[in-house]
Amino acid sequence: MSLRVLIVGSGGRESAIAWKISQSKRLSALFCLPGNPGTAAIATNIKAGVSDFEAIASAVEANGIDMVVVGPENPLVDGLADFLKGRFPQLMVIGPGREGARLEGSKEFAKDFMSRHAIPTAAYRPFTKETVAEAKAYLGTMQPPYVLKADGLAAGKGVVIPDTLKAAERELDEMFSGKFGQASSKVVIEQFLSGIELSVFVLTDGKDYLILPEAKDYKRIGDGDSGPNTGGMGAVSPVPFADREFMRKVEERIVKPTVAGLAADGIDYTGFIFIGLMNCGGDPYVIEYNVRMGDPETESVMRRISSDLLSHLEAAARGRLKDETILVSDSAAVTVVLVSGGYPGSYAKGYPVSGIEEARQEGVEVFHMGTAEAGDGVVTSGGRVLAVSATDTDMVSAARRAYDAAARIEFKDSYHRSDITKDLLKYL
Ligand code: AMP
Ligand code: GLY
Repeated sequence: MSLRVLIVGSGGRESAIAWKISQSKRLSALFCLPGNPGTAAIATNIKAGVSDFEAIASAVEANGIDMVVVGPENPLVDGLADFLKGRFPQLMVIGPGREGARLEGSKEFAKDFMSRHAIPTAAYRPFTKETVAEAKAYLGTMQPPYVLKADGLAAGKGVVIPDTLKAAERELDEMFSGKFGQASSKVVIEQFLSGIELSVFVLTDGKDYLILPEAKDYKRIGDGDSGPNTGGMGAVSPVPFADREFMRKVEERIVKPTVAGLAADGIDYTGFIFIGLMNCGGDPYVIEYNVRMGDPETESVMRRISSDLLSHLEAAARGRLKDETILVSDSAAVTVVLVSGGYPGSYAKGYPVSGIEEARQEGVEVFHMGTAEAGDGVVTSGGRVLAVSATDTDMVSAARRAYDAAARIEFKDSYHRSDITKDLLKYL
């Protein structure tokens, strides 16, 4: 059977998933809702918002969709998967229901889940406004820096790491006073883990799993990891320090108990799990779970999967992952994100973008993140505008190729980090 697939979302992650699925022999038609000018070249874009469940249901019905792949976390946390399955019992949905999405939607839920299933993570305690005195006493027992996390979704901004006790106490008061709205009515305080971060991605049907290529992203806006956090300024896969032994520990200590834990808790989970990890002296600890793929990690990860992603997704949706094998190429993939000047603060939109076709040379893909159509071309329409993703035999060559391609793209006040992969050279 060939499949009609709808991807929900409009960013670089969805662009890369669409790019990969579009190559599948199993595909008969591809739709993106809402998609972007990049996905328009390989799919039919459907105008609607990712939180407009009725519009998504209408798109499924009108286009005879067999499978929906949900890109972003918000609709998952709000129950899109349950809604679609309730409406269309035969529909394959990639993305967990509301219950499974709590792994990302509530830090306390995620931490309790890890503690219940003996999955290595930082020591922690949850607090509310009512227990603020205990929270401060707990802070007093810890060493700096302090890690404070808003319990709910806060668009990636809900984690604060003050260096002094005083700053931590002030931050706690601000969080309880609504700094992140409802998301910080509960706050998790946890032990600081020092090490180097990476992300591991799993596709699961709730019983079995495939481990996708791992990746490292670059969260800060400036070179040398300086300045404020962003959604992600670049990503590389594979990660040189994630050797066979480390990945074996990740699988045994984290992936297996996570999937088994979901089953033991009676949570029906079909979809991706993004595991944010800290490598602490060779041992992996979970920093966070996300219930979706990462952006821009996906742009690098998809470039390295050489087997048919759509076949894996179908197997996941049908509970048959046990029989699937994922093939990963030993090439390296490096993604550099081009952003609007001013991002992650305020920035202008609507600047014409040139050079995208010139940048697309051998080994290079340009994924749209925040662009809009304007006449024959595109203009900037978001903070993160384009992801330039290059593959080559090794990380150094892939980075060179990505930067060569990025140099061909122009828009007013364009900015990108110039040190993606540099911190990893010492591990080669
Ligand atoms: P999160 O939103 O949970 O990914 O956290 C944002 C960032 O805060 C992570 O990518 C880490 O760099 C950092 N972080 C979170 N938790 C800890 C921790 N327990 N120790 C050290 N750094 C952390
Ligand atoms: N790049 C980090 C994320 O997608 O959450």
